Amino acid sequence: MIIYNDDEIAAARRSNQVVARILDELAGMIKPGLRTRELDAYAEARTRELGAVPAFKGYRGYPATLCVSVNEEIIHGIPSNRALREGDIVGVDFGVVLDGFYGDAARTFAVGDVSPLARRLVETAERAFAKGFAEVRDGARLSDLSHAVQATVEAEGFSVIRQFVGHGVGRALHEDPQIPNFGASGRGPRLRPGLILAVEPMIAAGGWEVEILDDGWTAVTADRSLSAHFEHTIALTASGPEILSRTAPPGPSGMWMAKENRNAQG
Ligand code: MF3
Ligand code: CO
Repeated sequence: MIIYNDDEIAAARRSNQVVARILDELAGMIKPGLRTRELDAYAEARTRELGAVPAFKGYRGYPATLCVSVNEEIIHGIPSNRALREGDIVGVDFGVVLDGFYGDAARTFAVGDVSPLARRLVETAERAFAKGFAEVRDGARLSDLSHAVQATVEAEGFSVIRQFVGHGVGRALHEDPQIPNFGASGRGPRLRPGLILAVEPMIAAGGWEVEILDDGWTAVTADRSLSAHFEHTIALTASGPEILSRTAPPGPSGMWMAKENRNAQG
């Protein structure tokens, strides 16, 4: 596991802020009729406009800037002429390189009105990330995070995908450690300041078994049940855990407000 210094974490923060900003913009484009390739074209153009380079394009031969995974697709869906439809859920996974550092994040969006099951699945993926992130502190064990994700997902009657994992990220897209989204707590390496990790629960409404489609990339649930994916790049800094791939919410100064402050404002 690589321990990055404050300057390196600052560089990772900058690349992840490009990812976060563009994901925010993509979120505003999602609507029935939009082709997944249009999302991809927008993301690539904006990435270059902001001085960064798409991280996935060309990675092991992957052909696009985004992975766009609809409904039973878990991850690695290839953008195409497919048009989004009302009721779909669509996972958008996006990475860039800026000044030698990778940023990597994914969100799952609802297209218009979606079923209660789809909504609960998407919310659970995000909450599973949050519960995992809440375990990140100096001295914790890596699998404390994994266990928290699994418990959150299974409490809803959903399952965690086992074939794919989160990962260290920094000067390379994939670094040690691998971060499973399941397992007993209290195992694995201890978390230390300087770690940068991509935490990415992938979950399914049905079983966790996976199939890869004939395009060689798209991972789908074997039972074709709905799947959702949520990913942030996080860092354990000297002053504590931080989500690098999130844009600041609107606030008086445009800065993160202290928690007490947020609560006071409701
Ligand atoms: N977020 C994914 C990951 O961490 C995206 C990789 S897609 C690939 O692996 F095309 F680059 F492989
Ligand atoms: Co990732």
